[in-house]
Amino acid sequence: MALQLGDIAPDFEQESTLGRIRFHHWLGDSWGILFSHPKDFTPVCTTELGYVARLKPEFERRGVKVIGLSVDSSGAHEKWAADIAETQGQALNFPLIADADRKVSTLYGMIHPKANDTLTVRSVFVIDPQKKIRLTLTYPASTGRDFDEILRVVDSLQLTDKHKVATPVNWKPGDDVIIVPSLTDPAEVKRLFPKGYKELKPYLRVTPQPGR
Ligand code: BEZ
Repeated sequence: MALQLGDIAPDFEQESTLGRIRFHHWLGDSWGILFSHPKDFTPVCTTELGYVARLKPEFERRGVKVIGLSVDSSGAHEKWAADIAETQGQALNFPLIADADRKVSTLYGMIHPKANDTLTVRSVFVIDPQKKIRLTLTYPASTGRDFDEILRVVDSLQLTDKHKVATPVNWKPGDDVIIVPSLTDPAEVKRLFPKGYKELKPYLRVTPQPGR
């Protein structure tokens, strides 16, 4: 069965551009983002990897470690890394798993045989510090992902873990949020949301983002 939200991200040991990685050990207490690429020396992946490397300070600010995967050897990854630096103006600064034996891609269901027998689709797994899968995303090989959106989801997950809120459509950090409907005790609502809230419906209460 496919991995689902709330499942523990399977542990593995595999080669990478930074040597052998034991995934759970490598994650430590951080959040993690594991994302797959169909193959080395492919154009869309080249742009994605350069962009994620440029975003690294943003991931670090949120306590997130990023790790890519492609079904080629670490030797191929190293040659490809030179192309990424040359064409994207940004060197790789996070590990890229060398999944030539497809061990990790199979474990995580990243190969969808009806799309392609051997290459991975573009999978993303956001993993929390308890190693629970909090987001899965699957894109076709021909469509580059929006990593700003993935950062936005991390912001939402971290905010909603901390406060009893959910984030509405197209929410961006700093926008108003929604008080979770399960919170009904008026005294607790007042205590948790001292700036007040607007009640559009009993189940739709909007409040300024807490902690800002
Ligand atoms: C790419 O990364 O550019 C790509 C990979 C497989 C199929 C199409 C595009």
